[in-house]
Amino acid sequence: MSAPALTGPLTGRSRPDRRPHSLAEWQALGGYQAVTTALAMRPADIIDMVDAAALNGRGGAGFPVARKWRFMPAPGTAPKTAPGDGPSYLIVNGDEMEPGAFKDRLFIEALPHQLIEGAIIAAHAMHVSEAIILVRDNYRAGIAAMESAIAEAGAAGLLGGLRMRVHASAGRYIVGEETALIEALEGKRAVPRKRPPFPAQSGLWGRPTTVNNVETIACVPIIVSGGAAAFRALSRTAEGGTKLYGVSGRVHRPQLIEAPMGTTARELIDRCGGVSGNGMLRCFQPGGGASGFLGPEHLDLPLDFGSVAATGSMFGTGTMIVLDETACPIGVVARHLRFYARESCGWCTPCREGLPWTARILDALEAGTARASDLDVLRMTAAEAGPRGRSFCDLMGGAMQPLASALTRFADLFDDHLAHGCTIGKQQ
Ligand SMILES: Cc1cc2nc3c(=O)[nH]c(=O)nc-3n(C[C@H](O)[C@H](O)[C@H](O)COP(=O)(O)O)c2cc1C
Ligand code: SF4
Repeated sequence: MSAPALTGPLTGRSRPDRRPHSLAEWQALGGYQAVTTALAMRPADIIDMVDAAALNGRGGAGFPVARKWRFMPAPGTAPKTAPGDGPSYLIVNGDEMEPGAFKDRLFIEALPHQLIEGAIIAAHAMHVSEAIILVRDNYRAGIAAMESAIAEAGAAGLLGGLRMRVHASAGRYIVGEETALIEALEGKRAVPRKRPPFPAQSGLWGRPTTVNNVETIACVPIIVSGGAAAFRALSRTAEGGTKLYGVSGRVHRPQLIEAPMGTTARELIDRCGGVSGNGMLRCFQPGGGASGFLGPEHLDLPLDFGSVAATGSMFGTGTMIVLDETACPIGVVARHLRFYARESCGWCTPCREGLPWTARILDALEAGTARASDLDVLRMTAAEAGPRGRSFCDLMGGAMQPLASALTRFADLFDDHLAHGCTIGKQQ
């Protein structure tokens, strides 16, 4: 089955078969005009434009992009850790291993020139000398597409003095965390770094570095070509632009959908042909595996970073996972926890030891072999290890979000599981 066509300024130039364009085809569609416009602008004016467009980072935290770019030192003000002017880096983060996330793949595989345009403009705005596109290891077609598009752009002189290359990730979830990613690029074990210093002060090889998500960078040429006001107006909320939403799980046609920022879950699920299974929505995770569950009462919530955070959940990657009433949320959390336990880098004890332990308890609940005291352990772990700042990076806190929300939202189901194991979807 071919993927549904995407429409909208961000993804509308992708082909129905999702094959990448050659440089000539991309230029015939208006490609690289935004680069010409941007290179004629003062770098600070580009950052002001991105600010006025209200672009928030699409990597998970929704951090304002202009604010992050302004952390980079101006030329001639190199940090003390690396005296003198030298290289500085933009890393485009395409690790994309969050359960349920499959949005960055589209840009990497089908719109590589759009990503290159965004990287050239961002590099100009931050006086960056090298851009590295980090791509999830098993996005093999994407790695090939990016490499060939960079070679074409370089041969056509479009990169100017900017160095650009692709780096295949080591194939671990933690490599997506920006400081672990920097460690990995330096050839070391991917373990997050202590902050401060922040990457803009001392990042890759001790040099000023900015890490931005793939979708974030793909938005940049759209802002430059259409203007900040037009980009902002694409959204229904105060957060600018359209969003590449992903919908998976129990819907009839799982897919990527480009829609205004602030589109509701009801609209997205309708676009996917509705809830599958028994047709009754039990809950959904709005932003990938590390986001807390929302329920049918949130179907009309505008999905953006601020609105979802106000519920206690997280917009994250903006890729929803939908569960109908015949899907067991405890089973889903167990599955996620097994993933996060496997992907823990092992640096801190609550994550290294706590995640596998939690996953085992959830598996026991599913099997009907858990004890009452296990529920206390789950509650204690979610309360003590879940909040931000209790572990060295956000992997542990993110992993606890679905569990913490399930313990509150589905308390009755936990009691049922304790008594009988999982019977959801097994009743006649
Ligand atoms: C465990 C973990 C995994 C992450 N994986 C990714 C990823 O695959 N892609 C990504 O863009 N950001 C990921 N992030 C967030 C990055 O650290 C960083 O905030 C992001 O790349 C910044 O991009 P943005 O400012 O454009 O949103 C991850 C964070 C954590 C804690
Ligand atoms: S929270 Fe987990 S992944 Fe993050 S540093 Fe600690 S052990 Fe590593």
